[in-house]
Amino acid sequence: MNPLILDTISNYDSPIIIALDFDNEKEVLNLLSQLSPDLCKLKIGKELFTSTGTKLVEKLVVSGYKVFLDLKFHDIPNTTYKACKAAANLGVWMTNVHASGGQKMLEMAKQGIDEAGTDTILIAVTTLTSMSQEELYQIGVKENITTHVTNLAKLSYNSGLDGVVCSAHEAKHIKTEITQEFLTVCPGIRLTLDKTDDQTRIMTPELAISNQVDYMVIGRPITKAPNPRQQLIEILSRIKR
Ligand code: C5P
Repeated sequence: MNPLILDTISNYDSPIIIALDFDNEKEVLNLLSQLSPDLCKLKIGKELFTSTGTKLVEKLVVSGYKVFLDLKFHDIPNTTYKACKAAANLGVWMTNVHASGGQKMLEMAKQGIDEAGTDTILIAVTTLTSMSQEELYQIGVKENITTHVTNLAKLSYNSGLDGVVCSAHEAKHIKTEITQEFLTVCPGIRLTLDKTDDQTRIMTPELAISNQVDYMVIGRPITKAPNPRQQLIEILSRIKR
């Protein structure tokens, strides 16, 4: 590893959030033995959280990582309020809810974070990027996807949230429609456009940055790489602003 590259990257607010898509702590700790909090943030989703619970979240927070607790809460306002407050009390850096839960739910989610007294960032999932236009019609959404996503992003902003999870293809449009400060957090990142796995609308890290993505969620391209640390450092050197 070129120490110069590493040196210029340290003390950098890394825009990369690594998706810890594992079902056990051992594999997580094995991966993290090669990484450090100055290089990346971490995402704990439903699989890992359901398998390992809050202990691992707290362990990663204490070890200095900024943790995105990706549990996509979607429930009645009071339950969502309490869930968000509990998430913030774990010390996580970011957590999320579904924007389609509606304004009252979004406002109560924000209230839960505020009452915890932490700086936890609260973002909303607009529409799952796995949903096609056809599937939206099936659940009664008549608008096209872009309009629907933009409307839900506006609802999230007006309800006091800090940003949205969206496709990298939508990030610039959302910021233009709302405000530059509204955060865009985007999965579906691939190092080359011919390696998609099961993602459909993908984008390279360089294009994502130029399309105003604030944080990119990357899983398999790093976690399944022969040398995850080297892969991460290579991506960081490609996108260093
Ligand atoms: O391995 P890969 O880079 O595809 O991982 C992307 C991560 O982002 C996974 O944890 C996946 O669940 C998550 N995600 C996604 N699309 C969304 C929301 C979350 O791929 N719309």
